[in-house]
Amino acid sequence: MEPDTTTSPSGRGFWEQRYRDDDPSGPLPTPNPAFTALIGELSLVPPPAGTPRALELACGRGGDALWLAAAGWHVTAVDIAEHALSALAERARRAGLGDRLAVERHDLARSAPGAGRWDLVYANYFHTLVDLDRDAVLRRAARSVADGGVLTVVDHGSSAPWSWEQRDDHPSAEDLWHSLALGNGWTRLMCEGRPRIARGPDGRTATVLDTVVAARRADGGGRT
Ligand SMILES: C[S@@+](CC[C@H](N)C(=O)[O-])C[C@H]1O[C@@H](n2cnc3c(N)ncnc32)[C@H](O)[C@@H]1O
Repeated sequence: MEPDTTTSPSGRGFWEQRYRDDDPSGPLPTPNPAFTALIGELSLVPPPAGTPRALELACGRGGDALWLAAAGWHVTAVDIAEHALSALAERARRAGLGDRLAVERHDLARSAPGAGRWDLVYANYFHTLVDLDRDAVLRRAARSVADGGVLTVVDHGSSAPWSWEQRDDHPSAEDLWHSLALGNGWTRLMCEGRPRIARGPDGRTATVLDTVVAARRADGGGRT
């Protein structure tokens, strides 16, 4: 069945509904294995010295933000859905991570966290139901990466059999890389499709593909 996105032009209604019954007293949501593997490979856990700052775009239930905060990052997690964010803030508080995880509600098509540079900006499965200029959102987010900082994007590279979105035209890692239009001053760290065994809500398993891209902004240059 097609999801109903007519409740708001941004699709917010759909996502609020989806997270409405999220119970923050339950177990912590597990982080995305493609993301945790990538962050490990990039040697970003443990985090760099100082007060490393990470920005997550479209955090959903926040398993990745919680994992990163537990590893020592100071994370600001953004989503369009207030229900998701209030549950995540409560989870962070209960896990003793309230001082390392902040939430901000934004429709990223319209706004983003204010000025400041991030040591890590990331988006995992930032797939939406409406016609959003996601490339523009990601390019703007890339401009907020600090010198020497890292941008990562993990997308679905194939549709799981249980997914509401069945399509066979997922962009490749190269497509994703080019859509970011990072230009000079960035080093490509990762750009590939990675197979993974996924488990569906009914317990079925299937091999799916993740599209994984990572880049580092050069130290002291490359402002776009
Ligand atoms: C497929 S979910 C992925 C959530 C999470 N990153 C994960 O990996 O589980 C997509 C997320 O994008 C958020 N989202 C959709 N449109 C958005 C927008 N315009 N601005 C901010 N967040 C948005 C939704 O609320 C949802 O949490």
